[in-house]
Amino acid sequence: MIDQDIGTGLRWNYQDLPYDAVDCSAMASSRLLLYIVATASFVEIMSDVYARNLVEYFKGEDEVCRWLDGVWVPEETQHGAALRRYAAAAWPAFDWDGTFERYRDEYATYCKTERLGPTRALEMARRCIVETGTFSYYTMIQRMAPCPVLAQLAGEIRADEAGHYKQFLRFFRHYQGLEQPARSATAKAMVQRALEINEEDGLIAFKHVWQAMNPSREFRTSYYSEFTHALGANALEHYPVRTAVHMATRLLGLPRKPGRSVDAAIASVFRVGLHMTVPAYLRRGRGAAIHL
Ligand SMILES: [Fe+2]
Ligand SMILES: [Fe+2]
Repeated sequence: MIDQDIGTGLRWNYQDLPYDAVDCSAMASSRLLLYIVATASFVEIMSDVYARNLVEYFKGEDEVCRWLDGVWVPEETQHGAALRRYAAAAWPAFDWDGTFERYRDEYATYCKTERLGPTRALEMARRCIVETGTFSYYTMIQRMAPCPVLAQLAGEIRADEAGHYKQFLRFFRHYQGLEQPARSATAKAMVQRALEINEEDGLIAFKHVWQAMNPSREFRTSYYSEFTHALGANALEHYPVRTAVHMATRLLGLPRKPGRSVDAAIASVFRVGLHMTVPAYLRRGRGAAIHL
């Protein structure tokens, strides 16, 4: 079953997108986009597991639980369903169901309530970082997509992720007022969550997609580094660095100075760091990741 009933009241319906207009021949040549779309669909669909943990963590906080159940989960689930439907249209030979099953079995062992927190305010800060990451990621996909249907899909998801960020930020402000966390504690929670995105969520999803694409070969973690480098090469051109930095630093309440802002300075450092992590052969489209 590719189509699934997500629920009512959503801003858009993934079944309305023109999947029959996907240019399969163009997409067949882009392994990088297959990895991007498939891994993103896996992570999105697992939102319901993560949401159960979040609802348990915020038990008794009715407004949070109502929003998670009524808005956040249906929207995230729709993101996964839409990306899955797109993957089926663009790469019909890819065994999405079997690959997702293997991914889910492994990921479920990592997704535990004790990994949330350590306080409600800091968990909301962590959620804001995740939503900043997804908003920026789909912005990049929208900008780099050679297929208009994928660009349209990424644009819809991007708008939802922006809404999630705003709502989690409101919740963060509420618990921040109650708990008064130190700025350093908030920064630490943000950095830790950002590292988890790369090291855990993304790695596990990538590993299973890679194994499906290369069934006779043995997976190496260095292949994931190669994938992230290829993403980095695209990010140099398409990632909304300034916006992402602004979204993240809003949590810290950094003082705003006239003239060149703190955000702009951090964004510059981020860009230089990104440039340094991308191997020369991948910069400006000179070459491609070889083990994908
Ligand atoms: Fe999402
Ligand atoms: Fe989201």
